[in-house]
Parts: sequence; structure tokens; C-alpha cells
Amino acid sequence: MQEMANLCAEIRACQKCDLGRGRTNAVPGEGPVPARIMFIGEGPGYHEDQQGRPFVGAAGQYLSELLGRIGLRREDVYITNVVKCRPPRNRDPLPEEIEACQPYLDRQIALVQPAIIVTLGRYSMARYFPGQSISRIHGVPKYVNGIWCFPMFHPAAGLHQPRYRTMIEEDFQKLAKLLKDLERAPKAEEESSPPTPPPAQQLSLF
Ligand code: SF4
Ligand code: URA
Repeated sequence: MQEMANLCAEIRACQKCDLGRGRTNAVPGEGPVPARIMFIGEGPGYHEDQQGRPFVGAAGQYLSELLGRIGLRREDVYITNVVKCRPPRNRDPLPEEIEACQPYLDRQIALVQPAIIVTLGRYSMARYFPGQSISRIHGVPKYVNGIWCFPMFHPAAGLHQPRYRTMIEEDFQKLAKLLKDLERAPKAEEESSPPTPPPAQQLSLF
């Protein structure tokens, strides 16, 4: 898709925040456009920065495995991050970096037009579930402006901690069920969804 290709080229040349100076490669994201499901992680790590592709390290391998278990391939979903350049030593992205990068994510969402957005970890969750705790709300989707937003723990959390692994794998089963329900009755799903939030709240969510 030409518009997405142009957007990714823009991201690769971006210097809108300090992360642009430290990167090897920007990591715009990849996957089909449009796509039914979009995954939003936190930011590139070492391997992603080296290769310019999202989720290619250990967490990425686990993500591919999780997708496989519910009958999806990596190539079926769009995958990106809240910030497109690697924070030094994999530190958390700063609020000003997230804000500088947000317009790219907004444009990607508009182009991908996902039915479901899966947020991986706290930073991508904050956009749709401000002020909420991931331990409380993981695995419970919320319908926001025509998109089902599905909060999950970051797959990296499951790599070394069996407790998280179990929760992540259960949440993936819930995701599979949501997908199936949407395929079966997309109209009914929309009708039975909660009313859309008032305009002020919508602005803060998107
Ligand atoms: Fe630009 Fe985003 Fe990279 Fe910052 S993180 S330089 S805003 S692409
Ligand atoms: N972790 C992320 O949040 N994003 C990636 O692309 C890789 C690891």
C-alpha cells in the first residue's frame, strides 16, 4: 500500500525526538494493510533496531508462537510499536517521546483500519485505558470508536515468568474467541457494544 510505504519512509527519516539520534534503524512496523488485527508493542529492542523490523527478538519469537497457537501467522497481522526508535539501553520511553511519535501511530491505525487493536504492555495500553492497571484489566476488551481494544501483558513478561505466561496464553484464547465472534456476527457485536463515550472522552482516547 503506497500510503503506508510513504509513511514508513517518513518514519525512517524522522528526527522529531531524541531517540532518532541513537537508533541504528527506525522500526516503523509491518504487516498487511488493511488488517483485521493490529498489535502495538512498546518500542524496538536491540534486534529490532539492528534489523529495522518489529518483534524479531526473543519476545517476538514468543509472539509468533502465541499467534500460531490461535491459528494466525505473523504475516496476517499488523505489528508496530508506540515509539519507532529504540530507547537507549531499552529504557522505558519518555512521555515526550511517546507524544512526538504518536501522530505516526495515529496514521498507521487510520490506514490499517483494524477491527481489533491488541495493546502489548503498559505504554500502548495507556492510550486506550488511561490510568488503569494492566494487572486488573488484561484480557478484557473495550469497544472504542469502532475498534475493539484488547489489553495484554507484554510477551517479554511471559518469557521468564510462568505466572505471566499462563495469563498471556489465556488472554490469547480470549482474543481467538473475540475474533470468532466478530466473524460470526459483526453487526450484532456492534449493536450490543456499550454506547460510545462522550466527545470529550473520545478526544482523550484517540
Ligand atoms: Fe521520530 Fe518516533 Fe523515532 Fe522519535 S521515536 S525520532 S518521533 S520516529
Ligand atoms: N518489544 C517491543 O515492545 N517491541 C518490539 O518491537 C520488540 C520487543
